[in-house]
Amino acid sequence: MTRPIRCLITAGPTREFFDPVRFISNPSTGKMGYALAQAALDAAWTVDLISGPVALPPPQGLNLYPITTGAELHEACHDLFSACDILIMCAAVCDMRPAQTHPHKVKKETLEWNGRFEPVPDILKSLSNVRKPGQVIVGFAAETRDIAEYARRKLEEKNLDWIVANDVSRSDAGFASDTNTVTLYARTGETYALQPGTKLEVASSLLALFAPTLSRTQSNT
Ligand code: C5P
Repeated sequence: MTRPIRCLITAGPTREFFDPVRFISNPSTGKMGYALAQAALDAAWTVDLISGPVALPPPQGLNLYPITTGAELHEACHDLFSACDILIMCAAVCDMRPAQTHPHKVKKETLEWNGRFEPVPDILKSLSNVRKPGQVIVGFAAETRDIAEYARRKLEEKNLDWIVANDVSRSDAGFASDTNTVTLYARTGETYALQPGTKLEVASSLLALFAPTLSRTQSNT
C-alpha cells in the first residue's frame, strides 16, 4: 500500500516591521493557497499549510503553521520541507524589509520614511538547494506584464519543476479575486494554459497535472 502524498503549501502575505506597530506587506489574501490546500485535502493528500496573516478559516483536516515575517516563513519551510513530496510555494513573500527594526514604537515626529531596505532572501532558492531526489517544487509568479518571459526566467533561476503564472493586473485574477486564470510552465518545456475558473477549480486542475509526477516519485521510493 502506498502512503498518501504529503504536500507543503505556503499561503498569504508576509509582513516586515519597522517597529512593533508598522510594517510593509502586499495585498495577498491567501485565497489561492487555501484553495490549493482544500483541493489537496479533497485528493486525500496529507497537507501542511504555512500561512501568513489572512482572514480565511483554515480547511479542516490539515496541519496549520501560522507565520508573520519572511524570516518565520523561511524557518517553518526549512523545518517541514524534508518530509514533503511536493512543495507549492504560493505565499506572496514581501520582497524587501527595513534594514533596521526598532524594538519600541517610534514617535511619528522622528520617523524616517526614507529608511534603508534590504532584500528578503529567496526562500524557494534556498529550498531547491537542499531538495532530495524526487521532491517536486512549484513556485508562483504574479506578474503584470511579459508574463511568459518572467515566469520562465524564475523557473530557471529558482530551479523549480513547475511555475504557475498569473496576471495580477486582470480583475478576474488578482490577489483578492475568487477566480483565477493561470498558465503553468514545466521545467521540461510544456506550457498549459488552464481554463479560467474559481480558485478551487484552478487548484484542482493544477494538482491533477502535478499528480502523475508524484505517483512516479512514490513508486520509486
Ligand atoms: O521572484 P518572485 O518573488 O516573483 O517569485 C515568486 C515565487 O518565489 C513565489 O513562489 C514566492 O513564494 C517565492 N519567493 C520566495 N522567497 C522570496 C520571494 C519570493 O520563496 N524572498
